[in-house]
Amino acid sequence: MNLRDLVDITKLPNHIAVIMDGNGRWAKQKGLMRVIGHENGTKAVRETVEACAELGVKHLTLYAFSTENWNRPKLEVQTLMKLLVKSLKKEIKTLQDNKIKLTAIGSLKDLPKKAFEELKYVQEKTKDNEHMTLTLALSYGSREEIVNVVKELSVKVKNNIISSESIDESIINKHLYTQNLPDVDLLIRTSGEQRISNFLLWQIAYAELYFTDIFWPDFKKEHLIEAIKNYQNRERRFGKTSEQLT
Ligand code: IPE
Ligand code: IPE
Ligand code: MG
Repeated sequence: MNLRDLVDITKLPNHIAVIMDGNGRWAKQKGLMRVIGHENGTKAVRETVEACAELGVKHLTLYAFSTENWNRPKLEVQTLMKLLVKSLKKEIKTLQDNKIKLTAIGSLKDLPKKAFEELKYVQEKTKDNEHMTLTLALSYGSREEIVNVVKELSVKVKNNIISSESIDESIINKHLYTQNLPDVDLLIRTSGEQRISNFLLWQIAYAELYFTDIFWPDFKKEHLIEAIKNYQNRERRFGKTSEQLT
């Protein structure tokens, strides 16, 4: 069955962001090690990427590793970084076949050299793909991102490159890691937690939030369809009244 028949194709979210949470609890529930949960999480990544490409969603952003996740046990961090390299190597074909451009946001310089280089390699290889943009948030923290914007803008003001009066939302947008991405329309978080955990704080100002109890490794195409259907039944008013929208 074509996924496009299951949703209203004229009302697709342009940008979906996902907080992929619950790998550890998925594993624990099965008496397995947390890292097995992460391994199985990569299957859900593929499932979601393919489903978004099939549907025609233009932008998908996945929260893969936060600035705070560096504080996890060393072995878990190492495994996550190894999994990243392995997945990038393995999935480059899926990206090319589906004409998906890979990008990344976050403090990428903090990644291990191998992961950084593999990421750059796949980015370069897929840079001309235009069907969909897949953005990985890696060593990403929204507060850090905003702090960097403030620093860059203050240097520009100090050096008379811009005036402080000219600072507006569009200038801030252009200095964020997400400068080439539109605002998020739909934010999905799995695993039952209902928090943002330092993800895209600026960019989700008017996003629709969707929380599901499913642990990330169990997240399938049908769950994505469910989230999109839920999104399509909402009225996005952007501050206006309902009457103004019609
Ligand atoms: C999400 O799953 C993956 C990362 C944060 C890297 P978790 O590892 O946070 O899983 P739980 O929340 O402990 O179940
Ligand atoms: C958020 O999940 C980060 C990612 C999914 C990569 P966490 O599991 O790190 O978030 P908290 O600690 O439960 O808020
Ligand atoms: Mg978690």
